[in-house]
Amino acid sequence: MAMLKGRRVVLGVTGSIAAYKSAFLVRELVKAGAEVRVVMTPGAKEFITPLTLGTLSGHPVHSELTDDREAGTWTDHVELGLWGDVVLVAPATAHTLAGMVEGRGDSLLLTVLLSAKCPVVVAPAMDRDMFTHPATTANLDALRSRGVHVIEPEEGELASGLEGKGRLADPVRIREELTAWFRNHAPLLGYRALITVGPTHEPVDAVRFIGNRSSGRQGVAIAMELARRGMTVDLIAGPIDLATDHPGIDRRDVGTALEMNAAAQEAARAHAPDVVIGTAAVSDVRPSAPIDGKAAKGDLPDHLGLTENPDILAGLNASVPADCFKVGFALAHDDGLEAALRKKDRKGCDLMVLNSLADQGAGFGHTTNRVRFVHGPDRIDSFELKSKDAVAVDLAEVIQARLLQRPPIEPDSTL
Ligand code: C5P
Repeated sequence: MAMLKGRRVVLGVTGSIAAYKSAFLVRELVKAGAEVRVVMTPGAKEFITPLTLGTLSGHPVHSELTDDREAGTWTDHVELGLWGDVVLVAPATAHTLAGMVEGRGDSLLLTVLLSAKCPVVVAPAMDRDMFTHPATTANLDALRSRGVHVIEPEEGELASGLEGKGRLADPVRIREELTAWFRNHAPLLGYRALITVGPTHEPVDAVRFIGNRSSGRQGVAIAMELARRGMTVDLIAGPIDLATDHPGIDRRDVGTALEMNAAAQEAARAHAPDVVIGTAAVSDVRPSAPIDGKAAKGDLPDHLGLTENPDILAGLNASVPADCFKVGFALAHDDGLEAALRKKDRKGCDLMVLNSLADQGAGFGHTTNRVRFVHGPDRIDSFELKSKDAVAVDLAEVIQARLLQRPPIEPDSTL
Protein backbone atom coordinates (compact mmCIF):
# COMPACT_ATOMS: atom_id res chain seq x y z
CA MET A 1 0.00 0.00 0.00
CA ALA A 2 2.71 2.49 1.07
CA MET A 3 4.31 2.07 -2.36
CA LEU A 4 1.62 4.30 -3.88
CA LYS A 5 1.99 7.09 -1.34
CA GLY A 6 2.89 10.30 -3.13
CA ARG A 7 3.02 8.59 -6.54
CA ARG A 8 1.71 10.70 -9.37
CA VAL A 9 -0.73 8.77 -11.51
CA VAL A 10 -2.12 10.10 -14.76
CA LEU A 11 -5.29 8.05 -15.14
CA GLY A 12 -6.54 7.76 -18.71
CA VAL A 13 -10.22 6.80 -18.95
CA THR A 14 -11.54 5.71 -22.32
CA GLY A 15 -15.00 5.04 -23.76
CA SER A 16 -15.89 1.62 -22.44
CA ILE A 17 -18.98 0.81 -20.37
CA ALA A 18 -16.45 -0.09 -17.67
CA ALA A 19 -15.58 3.62 -17.42
CA TYR A 20 -18.00 3.83 -14.48
CA LYS A 21 -15.57 1.64 -12.52
CA SER A 22 -12.90 4.32 -12.84
CA ALA A 23 -14.73 6.20 -10.06
CA PHE A 24 -13.93 3.29 -7.73
CA LEU A 25 -10.41 3.11 -9.12
CA VAL A 26 -9.76 6.81 -8.42
CA ARG A 27 -10.96 6.24 -4.84
CA GLU A 28 -8.68 3.22 -4.42
CA LEU A 29 -5.67 5.15 -5.70
CA VAL A 30 -6.39 8.28 -3.66
CA LYS A 31 -7.00 6.20 -0.51
CA ALA A 32 -3.59 4.59 -1.07
CA GLY A 33 -2.01 8.06 -1.06
CA ALA A 34 -1.52 8.53 -4.82
CA GLU A 35 -2.05 11.87 -6.51
CA VAL A 36 -4.35 11.32 -9.47
CA ARG A 37 -4.96 13.49 -12.54
CA VAL A 38 -7.65 12.17 -14.83
CA VAL A 39 -7.57 12.48 -18.62
CA MET A 40 -10.76 11.30 -20.35
CA THR A 41 -11.31 10.59 -24.00
CA PRO A 42 -14.45 12.20 -25.48
CA GLY A 43 -15.97 8.68 -25.61
CA ALA A 44 -15.46 8.16 -21.88
CA LYS A 45 -17.62 11.19 -21.12
CA GLU A 46 -20.60 9.31 -22.57
CA PHE A 47 -20.30 6.85 -19.70
CA ILE A 48 -19.20 8.91 -16.70
CA THR A 49 -19.02 12.63 -16.07
CA PRO A 50 -15.82 14.63 -15.60
CA LEU A 51 -17.49 16.12 -12.51
CA THR A 52 -17.52 12.70 -10.80
CA LEU A 53 -13.88 11.94 -11.51
CA GLY A 54 -12.79 15.53 -10.88
CA THR A 55 -14.46 15.51 -7.47
CA LEU A 56 -13.03 12.14 -6.48
CA SER A 57 -9.50 12.95 -7.68
CA GLY A 58 -9.54 16.49 -6.29
CA HIS A 59 -8.20 17.90 -9.57
CA PRO A 60 -9.84 19.20 -12.75
CA VAL A 61 -10.34 16.54 -15.40
CA HIS A 62 -8.81 17.14 -18.83
CA SER A 63 -10.22 15.77 -22.02
CA GLU A 64 -9.83 18.28 -24.83
CA LEU A 65 -6.67 19.40 -26.58
CA THR A 66 -8.02 22.95 -26.54
CA ASP A 67 -8.67 24.19 -23.04
CA ASP A 68 -10.64 27.32 -23.78
CA ARG A 69 -11.40 28.00 -27.42
CA GLU A 70 -12.36 31.62 -26.76
CA ALA A 71 -9.15 32.36 -24.88
CA GLY A 72 -7.10 30.30 -27.34
CA THR A 73 -5.54 28.17 -24.59
CA TRP A 74 -4.74 24.50 -24.79
CA THR A 75 -4.18 21.67 -22.35
CA ASP A 76 -0.48 21.10 -21.92
CA HIS A 77 -0.19 17.39 -22.72
CA VAL A 78 3.60 17.55 -22.46
CA GLU A 79 3.39 18.89 -18.92
CA LEU A 80 0.89 16.15 -17.98
CA GLY A 81 3.04 13.48 -19.58
CA LEU A 82 6.10 14.66 -17.68
CA TRP A 83 4.22 15.13 -14.40
CA GLY A 84 3.22 11.48 -13.98
CA ASP A 85 5.28 8.72 -12.40
CA VAL A 86 3.04 6.43 -14.44
CA VAL A 87 0.25 6.74 -16.98
CA LEU A 88 -2.45 4.16 -16.24
CA VAL A 89 -5.11 3.69 -18.91
CA ALA A 90 -8.11 1.99 -17.30
CA PRO A 91 -10.35 1.05 -18.93
CA ALA A 92 -8.39 0.90 -22.19
CA THR A 93 -10.57 0.37 -25.24
CA ALA A 94 -9.49 -1.45 -28.41
CA HIS A 95 -9.62 1.95 -30.10
CA THR A 96 -7.18 3.68 -27.73
CA LEU A 97 -4.88 0.63 -27.70
CA ALA A 98 -4.75 0.75 -31.51
CA GLY A 99 -4.07 4.50 -31.36
CA MET A 100 -1.19 3.87 -28.96
CA VAL A 101 0.33 1.26 -31.25
CA GLU A 102 0.10 3.57 -34.26
CA GLY A 103 1.34 6.57 -32.29
CA ARG A 104 -1.75 8.60 -33.20
CA GLY A 105 -2.43 11.87 -31.43
CA ASP A 106 -6.12 12.44 -32.11
CA SER A 107 -7.21 12.62 -28.47
CA LEU A 108 -5.65 14.46 -25.54
CA LEU A 109 -4.96 11.11 -23.88
CA LEU A 110 -3.04 9.83 -26.91
CA THR A 111 -0.92 12.99 -27.01
CA VAL A 112 -0.20 12.61 -23.29
CA LEU A 113 0.88 9.03 -23.98
CA LEU A 114 3.14 10.21 -26.80
CA SER A 115 4.73 12.84 -24.54
CA ALA A 116 5.05 10.68 -21.43
CA LYS A 117 8.56 9.83 -20.34
CA CYS A 118 7.26 7.66 -17.51
CA PRO A 119 6.15 4.03 -17.77
CA VAL A 120 2.70 3.13 -19.07
CA VAL A 121 0.25 0.56 -17.72
CA VAL A 122 -2.98 -0.41 -19.48
CA ALA A 123 -6.02 -2.32 -18.23
CA PRO A 124 -8.02 -3.33 -21.32
CA ALA A 125 -11.79 -3.69 -21.18
CA MET A 126 -13.95 -4.75 -24.10
CA ASP A 127 -16.31 -7.33 -25.41
CA ARG A 128 -14.99 -10.93 -25.57
CA ASP A 129 -14.80 -11.09 -29.36
CA MET A 130 -13.07 -7.73 -29.58
CA PHE A 131 -10.55 -8.84 -26.97
CA THR A 132 -9.77 -12.12 -28.72
CA HIS A 133 -9.62 -10.51 -32.18
CA PRO A 134 -6.15 -10.98 -33.74
CA ALA A 135 -5.84 -7.19 -34.15
CA THR A 136 -6.25 -6.62 -30.40
CA THR A 137 -3.90 -9.49 -29.57
CA ALA A 138 -1.28 -8.07 -31.96
CA ASN A 139 -1.72 -4.55 -30.54
CA LEU A 140 -1.28 -5.74 -26.96
CA ASP A 141 1.81 -7.73 -27.98
CA ALA A 142 3.24 -4.66 -29.69
CA LEU A 143 2.64 -2.54 -26.59
CA ARG A 144 4.16 -5.20 -24.33
CA SER A 145 7.25 -5.30 -26.53
CA ARG A 146 7.61 -1.54 -25.95
CA GLY A 147 7.55 -2.08 -22.21
CA VAL A 148 3.89 -1.29 -21.55
CA HIS A 149 2.54 -3.37 -18.67
CA VAL A 150 -0.84 -4.97 -19.37
CA ILE A 151 -3.22 -5.71 -16.50
CA GLU A 152 -5.19 -8.62 -17.90
CA PRO A 153 -8.97 -8.31 -18.03
CA GLU A 154 -11.06 -10.81 -16.11
CA GLU A 155 -13.31 -13.65 -17.25
CA GLY A 156 -17.01 -13.38 -16.61
CA GLU A 157 -20.28 -11.97 -17.72
CA LEU A 158 -19.83 -8.99 -20.03
CA ALA A 159 -22.08 -6.00 -20.63
CA SER A 160 -22.81 -7.37 -24.10
CA GLY A 161 -24.37 -10.45 -22.52
CA LEU A 162 -21.49 -12.63 -23.69
CA GLU A 163 -19.44 -14.69 -21.27
CA GLY A 164 -15.65 -14.59 -21.52
CA LYS A 165 -12.52 -12.58 -21.04
CA GLY A 166 -12.72 -8.81 -21.43
CA ARG A 167 -14.12 -7.48 -18.18
CA LEU A 168 -12.04 -4.67 -16.70
CA ALA A 169 -9.90 -5.95 -13.84
CA ASP A 170 -11.43 -5.12 -10.49
CA PRO A 171 -10.27 -1.68 -9.22
CA VAL A 172 -8.75 -3.30 -6.11
CA ARG A 173 -6.78 -5.67 -8.34
CA ILE A 174 -5.64 -2.79 -10.53
CA ARG A 175 -4.44 -0.92 -7.44
CA GLU A 176 -2.64 -4.07 -6.20
CA GLU A 177 -0.98 -4.72 -9.57
CA LEU A 178 0.09 -1.11 -9.83
CA THR A 179 1.59 -1.31 -6.33
CA ALA A 180 3.48 -4.50 -7.19
CA TRP A 181 4.61 -2.97 -10.44
CA PHE A 182 5.99 0.12 -8.66
CA ARG A 183 7.76 -2.11 -6.14
CA ASN A 184 9.46 -4.07 -8.93
CA HIS A 185 10.20 -1.29 -11.39
CA ALA A 186 10.72 1.88 -9.44
CA PRO A 187 11.40 0.91 -5.82
CA LEU A 188 13.22 4.17 -5.11
CA LEU A 189 10.67 6.57 -6.54
CA GLY A 190 10.34 9.61 -4.31
CA TYR A 191 13.96 9.45 -3.10
CA ARG A 192 16.61 11.90 -4.26
CA ALA A 193 20.34 11.57 -4.87
CA LEU A 194 23.00 14.20 -5.32
CA ILE A 195 25.98 12.93 -7.29
CA THR A 196 29.19 14.70 -8.28
CA VAL A 197 30.95 13.25 -11.30
CA GLY A 198 33.98 13.69 -13.54
CA PRO A 199 37.15 15.72 -13.16
CA THR A 200 37.39 19.45 -12.58
CA HIS A 201 39.43 21.79 -14.76
CA GLU A 202 41.26 24.55 -12.91
CA PRO A 203 42.31 27.32 -15.28
CA VAL A 204 45.93 28.37 -15.58
CA ASP A 205 44.90 30.80 -18.29
CA ALA A 206 42.06 30.93 -20.83
CA VAL A 207 43.12 27.69 -22.54
CA ARG A 208 45.35 25.76 -20.12
CA PHE A 209 44.16 24.00 -17.00
CA ILE A 210 45.09 21.60 -14.20
CA GLY A 211 42.89 18.52 -14.43
CA ASN A 212 42.97 14.76 -14.28
CA ARG A 213 42.02 11.74 -16.37
CA SER A 214 38.67 10.94 -14.73
CA SER A 215 36.17 9.96 -17.44
CA GLY A 216 33.07 10.16 -15.23
CA ARG A 217 32.00 6.67 -16.34
CA GLN A 218 31.54 5.20 -12.88
CA GLY A 219 29.53 8.16 -11.59
CA VAL A 220 27.35 8.29 -14.69
CA ALA A 221 26.69 4.54 -14.42
CA ILE A 222 25.57 5.06 -10.80
CA ALA A 223 23.36 8.03 -11.72
CA MET A 224 21.69 6.03 -14.51
CA GLU A 225 21.14 2.98 -12.28
CA LEU A 226 19.57 5.02 -9.48
CA ALA A 227 17.38 6.90 -11.97
CA ARG A 228 16.25 3.58 -13.46
CA ARG A 229 15.17 2.56 -9.96
CA GLY A 230 13.01 5.66 -9.77
CA MET A 231 15.25 8.14 -7.97
CA THR A 232 15.52 11.76 -8.97
CA VAL A 233 19.20 12.55 -9.38
CA ASP A 234 20.89 15.93 -9.20
CA LEU A 235 24.01 15.27 -11.23
CA ILE A 236 26.74 17.86 -10.91
CA ALA A 237 29.07 17.04 -13.77
CA GLY A 238 32.58 18.28 -14.37
CA PRO A 239 33.88 18.29 -17.96
CA ILE A 240 32.86 14.82 -19.21
CA ASP A 241 32.05 13.45 -22.60
CA LEU A 242 29.10 11.24 -21.66
CA ALA A 243 25.35 11.49 -22.23
CA THR A 244 22.99 11.07 -19.29
CA ASP A 245 19.63 10.85 -21.03
CA HIS A 246 17.12 9.92 -18.38
CA PRO A 247 14.15 12.03 -17.32
CA GLY A 248 15.03 11.36 -13.67
CA ILE A 249 18.45 12.99 -14.04
CA ASP A 250 18.74 16.73 -13.58
CA ARG A 251 22.24 17.59 -14.78
CA ARG A 252 24.30 20.73 -14.13
CA ASP A 253 27.56 21.00 -16.06
CA VAL A 254 30.38 22.81 -14.32
CA GLY A 255 34.09 23.38 -14.96
CA THR A 256 35.99 24.10 -11.77
CA ALA A 257 35.93 22.73 -8.23
CA LEU A 258 34.52 26.02 -6.96
CA GLU A 259 31.68 25.82 -9.49
CA MET A 260 31.05 22.18 -8.59
CA ASN A 261 30.99 23.09 -4.91
CA ALA A 262 28.51 25.93 -5.44
CA ALA A 263 26.22 23.79 -7.60
CA ALA A 264 26.34 20.87 -5.13
CA GLN A 265 25.59 23.16 -2.18
CA GLU A 266 22.69 24.73 -4.05
CA ALA A 267 21.18 21.34 -4.98
CA ALA A 268 21.67 20.01 -1.43
CA ARG A 269 19.89 22.97 0.13
CA ALA A 270 17.09 22.98 -2.43
CA HIS A 271 16.34 19.26 -2.48
CA ALA A 272 17.40 17.66 0.81
CA PRO A 273 18.90 14.57 -0.83
CA ASP A 274 18.47 11.13 0.74
CA VAL A 275 21.83 10.10 -0.69
CA VAL A 276 25.00 11.99 -1.62
CA ILE A 277 27.64 10.28 -3.73
CA GLY A 278 30.96 11.94 -4.43
CA THR A 279 32.35 10.19 -7.46
CA ALA A 280 34.03 13.32 -8.80
CA ALA A 281 37.80 13.43 -9.00
CA VAL A 282 37.95 16.99 -7.73
CA SER A 283 41.23 18.76 -8.28
CA ASP A 284 42.80 19.29 -4.87
CA VAL A 285 44.26 22.63 -5.90
CA ARG A 286 43.71 25.50 -8.33
CA PRO A 287 46.11 28.14 -9.66
CA SER A 288 45.88 31.04 -7.23
CA ALA A 289 46.03 33.71 -9.92
CA PRO A 290 44.78 32.45 -13.28
CA ILE A 291 46.09 34.57 -16.15
CA ASP A 292 43.53 36.57 -18.14
CA GLY A 293 43.38 35.51 -21.79
CA LYS A 294 45.90 33.13 -23.37
CA ALA A 295 49.40 33.65 -22.05
CA ALA A 296 52.17 33.58 -24.66
CA LYS A 297 54.78 30.83 -24.12
CA GLY A 298 57.33 33.31 -22.82
CA ASP A 299 54.84 34.88 -20.41
CA LEU A 300 54.07 31.68 -18.53
CA PRO A 301 55.36 31.87 -14.95
CA ASP A 302 58.19 29.60 -13.81
CA HIS A 303 56.13 28.58 -10.81
CA LEU A 304 52.39 28.29 -10.33
CA GLY A 305 50.99 29.55 -7.05
CA LEU A 306 48.35 27.05 -5.92
CA THR A 307 45.38 27.37 -3.59
CA GLU A 308 43.65 24.38 -1.99
CA ASN A 309 40.11 23.69 -3.21
CA PRO A 310 37.29 23.06 -0.76
CA ASP A 311 36.43 19.46 0.04
CA ILE A 312 33.02 19.32 -1.60
CA LEU A 313 31.86 16.10 0.02
CA ALA A 314 32.93 17.11 3.54
CA GLY A 315 31.34 20.52 3.06
CA LEU A 316 27.97 18.98 2.18
CA ASN A 317 27.54 17.60 5.70
CA ALA A 318 26.24 20.94 6.88
CA SER A 319 23.73 21.23 4.04
CA VAL A 320 22.11 17.80 3.87
CA PRO A 321 19.65 16.18 6.31
CA ALA A 322 21.26 14.35 9.23
CA ASP A 323 20.22 10.89 8.03
CA CYS A 324 21.36 11.42 4.44
CA PHE A 325 23.42 8.40 3.32
CA LYS A 326 26.84 9.63 2.20
CA VAL A 327 29.12 7.72 -0.13
CA GLY A 328 32.66 8.77 -0.97
CA PHE A 329 35.10 7.33 -3.47
CA ALA A 330 38.76 6.79 -2.73
CA LEU A 331 41.28 6.08 -5.43
CA ALA A 332 44.50 4.69 -4.01
CA HIS A 333 47.76 3.88 -5.75
CA ASP A 334 48.40 1.05 -3.29
CA ASP A 335 46.13 -0.96 -0.99
CA GLY A 336 44.65 2.21 0.45
CA LEU A 337 42.45 0.67 3.13
CA GLU A 338 43.83 2.61 6.08
CA ALA A 339 43.61 5.87 4.15
CA ALA A 340 40.05 5.05 3.04
CA LEU A 341 38.97 4.52 6.65
CA ARG A 342 40.50 7.85 7.65
CA LYS A 343 38.82 9.62 4.72
CA LYS A 344 35.50 8.06 5.63
CA ASP A 345 35.66 9.65 9.07
CA ARG A 346 37.11 12.95 7.91
CA LYS A 347 34.45 13.41 5.23
CA GLY A 348 31.60 12.09 7.40
CA CYS A 349 30.72 9.30 4.97
CA ASP A 350 28.69 6.18 5.73
CA LEU A 351 30.49 4.25 3.02
CA MET A 352 33.74 4.62 1.08
CA VAL A 353 34.10 2.91 -2.26
CA LEU A 354 37.77 2.08 -2.59
CA ASN A 355 39.56 1.25 -5.79
CA SER A 356 43.23 0.95 -6.37
CA LEU A 357 45.37 1.90 -9.35
CA ALA A 358 47.39 -1.21 -8.45
CA ASP A 359 44.50 -3.33 -9.77
CA GLN A 360 44.57 -4.07 -13.50
CA GLY A 361 41.48 -2.66 -15.23
CA ALA A 362 40.38 -0.49 -12.30
CA GLY A 363 40.18 3.27 -11.96
CA PHE A 364 40.22 6.17 -14.43
CA GLY A 365 39.25 5.68 -18.05
CA HIS A 366 38.53 1.94 -17.92
CA THR A 367 35.07 0.51 -18.49
CA THR A 368 35.73 -1.95 -15.67
CA ASN A 369 36.39 -1.45 -12.00
CA ARG A 370 37.39 -3.47 -8.97
CA VAL A 371 36.13 -2.04 -5.73
CA ARG A 372 35.84 -2.61 -2.02
CA PHE A 373 32.90 -1.20 -0.08
CA VAL A 374 34.36 0.08 3.16
CA HIS A 375 31.48 0.40 5.63
CA GLY A 376 33.86 0.49 8.60
CA PRO A 377 36.92 -1.31 9.97
CA ASP A 378 34.83 -4.43 10.62
CA ARG A 379 32.84 -4.50 7.42
CA ILE A 380 34.67 -4.43 4.11
CA ASP A 381 33.04 -6.09 1.11
CA SER A 382 35.41 -6.98 -1.73
CA PHE A 383 34.21 -7.46 -5.29
CA GLU A 384 35.75 -9.00 -8.39
CA LEU A 385 36.76 -6.94 -11.44
CA LYS A 386 33.51 -6.16 -13.26
CA SER A 387 31.98 -3.56 -15.55
CA LYS A 388 31.34 -0.11 -14.09
CA ASP A 389 27.64 -0.71 -14.80
CA ALA A 390 27.77 -3.83 -12.62
CA VAL A 391 29.56 -1.91 -9.85
CA ALA A 392 26.75 0.65 -10.07
CA VAL A 393 24.20 -2.13 -9.53
CA ASP A 394 26.11 -3.37 -6.45
CA LEU A 395 26.16 0.13 -4.98
CA ALA A 396 22.49 0.72 -5.83
CA GLU A 397 21.61 -2.47 -3.95
CA VAL A 398 23.33 -1.16 -0.80
CA ILE A 399 21.61 2.21 -1.16
CA GLN A 400 18.23 0.64 -1.80
CA ALA A 401 18.45 -1.65 1.24
CA ARG A 402 19.36 1.36 3.35
CA LEU A 403 16.69 3.72 2.00
CA LEU A 404 13.79 1.32 2.10
CA GLN A 405 14.20 1.08 5.87
CA ARG A 406 12.79 4.60 6.10
CA PRO A 407 10.49 6.92 4.14
CA PRO A 408 11.96 9.54 1.79
CA ILE A 409 13.05 12.82 3.37
CA GLU A 410 10.55 15.65 3.00
CA PRO A 411 12.64 18.62 1.81
CA ASP A 412 10.93 21.28 3.90
CA SER A 413 10.49 19.43 7.16
CA THR A 414 14.12 18.43 7.59
CA LEU A 415 15.99 21.64 6.91
O1 C5P B 1 40.54 12.96 -0.32
P1 C5P B 1 40.23 12.40 -1.65
O2 C5P B 1 40.28 13.41 -2.73
O3 C5P B 1 40.97 11.16 -2.00
O4 C5P B 1 38.69 11.94 -1.49
C1 C5P B 1 37.95 11.44 -2.53
C2 C5P B 1 36.47 11.61 -2.25
O5 C5P B 1 36.19 12.94 -1.79
C3 C5P B 1 35.65 11.46 -3.49
O6 C5P B 1 34.39 10.97 -3.10
C4 C5P B 1 35.59 12.87 -4.04
O7 C5P B 1 34.47 13.06 -4.88
C5 C5P B 1 35.51 13.68 -2.77
N1 C5P B 1 36.19 14.98 -2.87
C6 C5P B 1 35.45 16.14 -2.87
N2 C5P B 1 36.09 17.37 -2.92
C7 C5P B 1 37.42 17.45 -2.97
C8 C5P B 1 38.18 16.28 -2.96
C9 C5P B 1 37.55 15.06 -2.93
O8 C5P B 1 34.23 16.08 -2.84
N3 C5P B 1 38.00 18.63 -3.02
